[in-house]
Formats: sequence, C-alpha cells, structure tokens
Amino acid sequence: MCGIVGAIAQRDVSDILLEGLRRLEYRGYDSAGIAVVYNNEIQRIRSLGKVNELVKAVGEKTLAGGLGIAHTRWATHGKPSVNNAHPHVAGPLAIVHNGIIENYIDIKNRLIEKGHQFTSETDTEVFVALVNSYLEQEGNLLNATKRAIKDVKGAYGTVVIDKNEPEHLVAARSGSPIVIGLGIGENFVASDPVALFPITHRFIYLEEGDIADVSRFKIVIYDKNGNVVNRAVNEVNIENDEAVKGEYRHFMQKEIYEQTKVVTDTLAGRISDEHFVVECFGTNARDVFSSIERVKIVACGTSYHAGLMAREWFESLAGIPTDVEIASEFRYRKSITQKNTLFVTLSQSGETADTLAAVRIAKQKGYAHTLCICNVPGSSLVRESELVFLTRAGREICVASTKAFTTQLVSLLLLVGSIGVVKGTISSEDESGYVASLRKLAPSIEKALALDSKVEEISREFVNKRNALFLGRGAMYPIAMEGALKLKEISYIHAEAYAAGELKHGPIALIDADMPVIVVAPNNDLLAKLRSNIEEVSARRGILYVFGTPKLGLTKDPNIRFTEIDEVDELIAPIVYNVILQLLAYYVAIIKGTDVDKPRNLAKSVTVE
Ligand code: AGP
Repeated sequence: MCGIVGAIAQRDVSDILLEGLRRLEYRGYDSAGIAVVYNNEIQRIRSLGKVNELVKAVGEKTLAGGLGIAHTRWATHGKPSVNNAHPHVAGPLAIVHNGIIENYIDIKNRLIEKGHQFTSETDTEVFVALVNSYLEQEGNLLNATKRAIKDVKGAYGTVVIDKNEPEHLVAARSGSPIVIGLGIGENFVASDPVALFPITHRFIYLEEGDIADVSRFKIVIYDKNGNVVNRAVNEVNIENDEAVKGEYRHFMQKEIYEQTKVVTDTLAGRISDEHFVVECFGTNARDVFSSIERVKIVACGTSYHAGLMAREWFESLAGIPTDVEIASEFRYRKSITQKNTLFVTLSQSGETADTLAAVRIAKQKGYAHTLCICNVPGSSLVRESELVFLTRAGREICVASTKAFTTQLVSLLLLVGSIGVVKGTISSEDESGYVASLRKLAPSIEKALALDSKVEEISREFVNKRNALFLGRGAMYPIAMEGALKLKEISYIHAEAYAAGELKHGPIALIDADMPVIVVAPNNDLLAKLRSNIEEVSARRGILYVFGTPKLGLTKDPNIRFTEIDEVDELIAPIVYNVILQLLAYYVAIIKGTDVDKPRNLAKSVTVE
C-alpha cells in the first residue's frame, strides 16, 4: 500500500527519495510523486504508474534541494491519476499521507465555504488544506499540524513540509507507521525502514499519536498528550540486501525456493531434542499457557488461512477449543469475549490495519492475553502484543505471500505443541513425534520443489481457463483455500475452494469440461471420502488435477491428471502440499503474462481499512 519517504539534509535529497520509493515498490501502488524545496519554492513532479515513470518525469537533472518528500499512492479516495497523486499542496505546504481521513468531506465543505479550491478528489489534499488554514493563526508548521490533527478522524502516517521553513519537516503517526532514519547532520523519514537501508540502519519508530519535528541536527517528538518524549533508537541490521532477485526470474519464485531455509531458521532454537521450547514465546509463556482454556485467532487473507489451519491443530492435537475470525469482521462485530482466552493475531507485515485494530479491541474487551505471530520485528503489532513470536521468513517482497505463510504454519505448530505440553494435553510421546515430524519438514519441502517442472507442465493447461475449483478435506481444506487465493491473486483466474464434502450441496452445478478442479490428497483418514468426491467430479466430465498419495488408489481415468507426491508425515502434509499449489499459481501466472510480483490492485501491506 502507499509508501512515504522524506529527508532533510545539506545535500540534494531527490535521488535518496526516488531510491526510497523504488524500495517501497513491492508494497503496491498506482502513482508516485516527489516534492523538493529549493530557494523557498516547492518543485513538485507526479506521475501515473511505476516509479520509473516518475524518474523519467524528473529527467536527467537531479532536483536540487535538501528538504523533500516523496510518495507512492494506492488509490482509496479518487481514481489513480496525476491529479490525485501525492504530494498535495496548499499555500506554502506540501504533504504526503498514508491512511484515510474519514471526516474529510465535512472538513472539505468547511474549507470550500472559506474559499479554498481543491484540485483533487483526495482526503489528503483536504488534510494539507486544513493545516494551511491554521498556519497564520498558529504561526508555524509544527503548531498548525498539531492543531489540524485534532480535527481529523481516521488514520494517518504523514509528513508535511513548508517552503518558508526549509530547516525542518513535521511527521505524524496515528494508525499508519512512520519511522525516522537517523543520519549524521541529516535525517530521514519513511513508512518502512526498508526505504532507507542504503543510508541508515538506525531508526526511531513513532508511536501512536506521536508528532515529530525533524531537522538536520535535532529531532523532537511529542506524544499524543503534547509532552516531549524520548523514543528508543533501534539498530536494524540486514545481513545482505534481500531486495535482489539473484538467479530467479521473480521474487515469488525466489521466495518459494527459500522455504527450506526459512523453515529451518524458524525452528532454530525453538525445538530441542524431542521437545518444544515453550520459552521462545516469552519468559512468562508457561504461566500464560497454563492459565488459558481456549484460543481465539484473528487475521486477514493468507494469514487468516494460517489461522484456519491452526484451529485444526489446536483442537485435534492439543484439545484446545479454538475459534478463528477475519479481522475486518471481528473489529465491528458484537462478539462475546470468553474468559481465559488467548487472543492470537497472525500477520506477515504486522501493519495490517484491521488486524491491528482487532488486537486493540481485544484488549478493551478483556481478553486474558494477546500473542502475535509476525514476520517484521518492530512492527506495530509486535509492539502492541503481550507475547510475540517472530517468524524468520526474511523480507517477503512479492505481494502474494508464500514463505511467510509457511513460517506462520511452522510457528503455529510450535504454539499448539507448547500449549499442549504445558497444559498436559499432549503426551511426551506425542511431543517427540511432532518434533520429529517438524525436523522432516525442510527435506519434504525440498522434494516438493523437485516437482517444479511437472507442475509447470500442468500449468500450461490453464492458459485459457477463467475459473477453477480447489478441493480439500479436514486439514487440507485451509490449504485448498490458500491455493485458490494464490491463483486468483497472481493469475486473475477466478478460483474458489470447497471442503470436498460440500461439493454436492451446490458447487457441483459448476462442473463441466471447462472447469479445472484441483485436489490435494495426502494420506489421511479422509482418503476414501475424498476419492468418492473425485469420482463425482469425473462423472460430470470435470477435469481433475490431483496431487496426492498413491494410496488414493484412483483407477485410470482420462479426466484425471494425477501427480504422485512422496509420502509425508500427516502433521506436515498441509505445509508441503501448499508449496505445490504455490508453484502451480506461479506458473499459471507466468503463462497468463501477469505482473507476478506486483499483481494489479493489490498492496503488500494493507494499512488502511
Ligand atoms: C497474501 O498473498 C495477501 N496478499 C494478503 O491476503 C495478506 O495475507 C493479507 O493482506 C494479510 O497481511 P498480513 O499477513 O501482513 O497481515
């Protein structure tokens, strides 16, 4: 979703700003813009499409000036267009903004009555016009921004500059992240530290309600009550720059192939011999786990699918009643808080607005404890949760999540195991069996990846398809859902998942020779039932792509393309089979010629509702 970069320095900052935007490209956007102050004038350039278009528009000549802001916009209010692209200006001010100002229409009408003319359809232009309206009264940019912020409802991560105050910029955060990157005699701001890695690894994360006055040699931060506060400086080290594709054609392919490594990394130090290391969830994890009686999981998209998978494991392995809900539903539903419940959020980014809102609501509603499983250290969700477990997937750049999902599943197995052991619902014999299965995961994924060329061959049959169904049962149903989501996200084929037993209650009407049906069928108790479901589809001339165990015992059938998958422990089968569905989606997208890493309309991190 939208990205922000800002800088105050002695040197010209436009190249730093443009490089920052390039590094935020993975988040998804539809237009970009830059504004730099030079000789008390704002030079603003905006363009539709990719950052490269903006770079072309800026041209060969570096925009001179040591104070500037830049932005990639993902349209919310108003279509993608040059006029709606940020930065927006009003009087001497320019602004970039992530988030949504919910009461912008009221404010806009008020400002129109006072004679202000708007040139865009955005809430952001209203925001900057509001700051400008207070400028004369308040005397300076900082106070005018503080005043304007009191009027707005909604979410913002924002940076404002004033051509008449070229010695500083003002940044503010509420609901949308902002970090300050520290330099020597120069300072920077961004919506994600990644934007600033080429110039600094030292960051201050603004907290909710903070406003920062940032100049070259000084940073003053005010909290939501207006008090000056000290925020910690964090060293964020990246071993090597993960934003490089290397030998791979796409980041998605690279990230699929990294899964053996990230699974091993995520397990390191978290299982020992035959045991789960409960303390990896926090020093007080044992006390928390022994006190809880049930689990509530809330997440969005792929992370929600991880939650559905976890419910299977919590209930079947550890006997813990578990409930899973989409965050955007949970936050507005009048739900009942059950006592002694552990509230678990799952998120790759840790910045998903709905998930973040959910954890805040959970605290208000009196959930006993909160725990998040997240891939980004220092993210908002991590900072706001009581217990934190970091997946170690490394930076995921492709918008469609692959390796982050896999590490979420690994982490959830560790959580289920740890809670089960602490509560005594998992025996030590079962514990050592589960740990042994987890140790087999990386080699099993390796074997699944070896099917790459077979899956690529199958994918060619999807070139003219517009729809697809995914079927699974039990633990494989969430995997079918994730397979369908992956296919639709990156190939734009309409795909739906069904629990195979549900087929005859309606969706079977869709089956004909044009409807590919993808089935995930590892060896488990439901195999015979699944075989019947497969036969029902074949009898109606549906073409089936079955990935499964030979134990499925299918008879030769021209409607069935069967790909044999090596036997894999039942516990980890969903994770392994998911890798195959990731490969399928990837190759279908290539055949369809889509922008695999940056699919249309999507954003990597959904920081607005
Ligand atoms: C996955 O491929 C998605 N693009 C999307 O569904 C994502 O999982 C969802 O937006 C949640 O993101 P999070 O894990 O960062 O909270």
